[in-house]
Amino acid sequence: MGSRTMGRTPPIRRLVELATRAPSVHNTQPWFWGVDSDRLVLFADRSRQLMHADPDGRDLILSCGAALHHVQVAAAGAGWRPVVRRMPDAYNDAHLANISFHPEPATPAARAAVDALERRRTDRRSPTSSPVPRGQLDRLLGLGPPAGVTIFAVVSRQARTELLQILAEADRQQREDRDYVDEIVRWTGRVDGEGIPSSSLLRRDSGVGRADPVPTGPPPRFPSGSLVDDSHSPEVEPVLLAVCTSSDDTASRLRAGEALGAMLVHGTVAGMAMVPLSQAIEVDRTRVLLQDDLLSDTASPQIVVQVGWAPPGRIQVPLTRRRPVDDVLGDVSSLPPGIGPYHP
Ligand SMILES: Cc1cc2nc3c(=O)[nH]c(=O)nc-3n(C[C@H](O)[C@H](O)[C@H](O)COP(=O)(O)O)c2cc1C
Repeated sequence: MGSRTMGRTPPIRRLVELATRAPSVHNTQPWFWGVDSDRLVLFADRSRQLMHADPDGRDLILSCGAALHHVQVAAAGAGWRPVVRRMPDAYNDAHLANISFHPEPATPAARAAVDALERRRTDRRSPTSSPVPRGQLDRLLGLGPPAGVTIFAVVSRQARTELLQILAEADRQQREDRDYVDEIVRWTGRVDGEGIPSSSLLRRDSGVGRADPVPTGPPPRFPSGSLVDDSHSPEVEPVLLAVCTSSDDTASRLRAGEALGAMLVHGTVAGMAMVPLSQAIEVDRTRVLLQDDLLSDTASPQIVVQVGWAPPGRIQVPLTRRRPVDDVLGDVSSLPPGIGPYHP
């Protein structure tokens, strides 16, 4: 280490603050960050799992994966090269990763990625009808392999309609479960830094958010909010991307979450409007349909992402809030109940 960097320590608190800007299912923020001297340790906080939307905890791990991606972006932007060891503890699968940091000058691109990470938000309004050019799409698909993930673009009208029908079927099944609906209600319209605020949810003038019989877009998953859909595109056909892995264990889900984080940050830099859509994978029957019919059983689907363009000059959706850093960051020697154990 050169004398210029001697004695420097990574700005752990700031890195975690940026990592928590990651998207998470229903904005549950199901992560805990442990500090072990100069190293960060990422744990899944299973006490925050959505037991009805996400009974097998896939979305929870994907959310932690997005945060793991974000902490790496934050480190690179602050002049640190992150080195990640995933699933380091064979006896605790909530211990998702160890991250150590080595000094390395930040590039302008790394700083721009941090800027995008801070600006990123889920925009559920209709995108414009402008197509996403093949080159742009290829750049998004290219983010999969470095994360150990394959991303498929669902572009043909037939495949797109099929996927939207699968999504609508998942929505229909989920709504039959009263506990699922109650869970959504508990996690929406909140003002306490958790869950999805009304300002991020589309205002609907009628209905209670049921999917159309022949869907032209994803089902309205959440109750009506205060966000007005300002897009007047006659025919809106955003691209749907399926983020997939070769197996379906915790490590695969973590990597899929990292790829999701990378896609969303890259899309923000490119000016895209993106929405993660997880319902088709949350329901067993529709996940199997997606895997067998659309993917010919070549891969395990982890999440779908809708990609389009925001109309020029669109007013941004307010950023959703996050839990205070002090609630999600602590020393590994005194982990909150249910997070550990930590085996160094
Ligand atoms: C694993 C995962 C699943 C998600 N599923 C959906 C979904 O089905 N529909 C949706 O509108 N948003 C979905 N989201 C987006 C979250 O609701 C959003 O990230 C969260 O509310 C925080 O808001 P932000 O992305 O604007 O920061 C999902 C996000 C993640 C990480």
